[in-house]
Amino acid sequence: MKLAVNVDHIATIREARGEIEPDPVIAAGICELAGAEGIVCHLREDRRHINDRDVRLLREVVKTKLDLEMAATEEMLKIALEIIPDLVTLVPEKRQELTTEGGLNISADKSRLKDYIKEIQQKDILVSVFIDPEPSTIDDAVEIGADIIEIHTGKFANSLTRKEQIDELSKIGTIARMASELGLVVVAGHGLNYNNVFPLFNIPEIEEVSIGHAIISRAVFVGLHKAVEEMVRILE
Ligand code: PXP
Repeated sequence: MKLAVNVDHIATIREARGEIEPDPVIAAGICELAGAEGIVCHLREDRRHINDRDVRLLREVVKTKLDLEMAATEEMLKIALEIIPDLVTLVPEKRQELTTEGGLNISADKSRLKDYIKEIQQKDILVSVFIDPEPSTIDDAVEIGADIIEIHTGKFANSLTRKEQIDELSKIGTIARMASELGLVVVAGHGLNYNNVFPLFNIPEIEEVSIGHAIISRAVFVGLHKAVEEMVRILE
């Protein structure tokens, strides 16, 4: 299973101080050196973390695969057609949410999304749609011409009981198989971490997982000791 790393949280830390560090562009290079096979960044309408400069530079430096996660708006379409990421992931976006809460509601917007996706694909950019693990979404994803589905694993990741987790896993498995049989590439993401990723290995159709929060959180702890030691050494 391949790993794509979402570097939004590096930009979130930078924006907390309005400074230039830490830079998600440098983080992307480190992730690739460590074996990530893709870099994901979500350019939000409110630019709360990743900004336009980051996307431009990430396009220049990312050597594996740049996935531009974005809402299906005219502003984002213009940016994607200029930047030409390897992949665009279409997500719903609400200003008030802390993170992407649910999958895309394709059925409500099918004909517009079909044209929208076609325009992106004409530039040789692959298009992924972020969807909840509900079987009805697969036909919709095929109908609008998506190349890839990213299954929203948030409910699975946040399940409070073993039964809920097994039910969610079974839903994820079902739509992964359905999508794969229809020729779609299947990836998964949201809320995945160092503990809950294991059951996904039982779903061979999932080619890649997209992880952000857990990796950046762990980076703080595996790096904190060294960072303090370095400063202590300077002060000595
Ligand atoms: N995939 C998509 C489409 C997302 O919106 C996010 C969150 O930015 C992720 C994956 C990564 O989720 P997390 O940060 O919980 O690993």
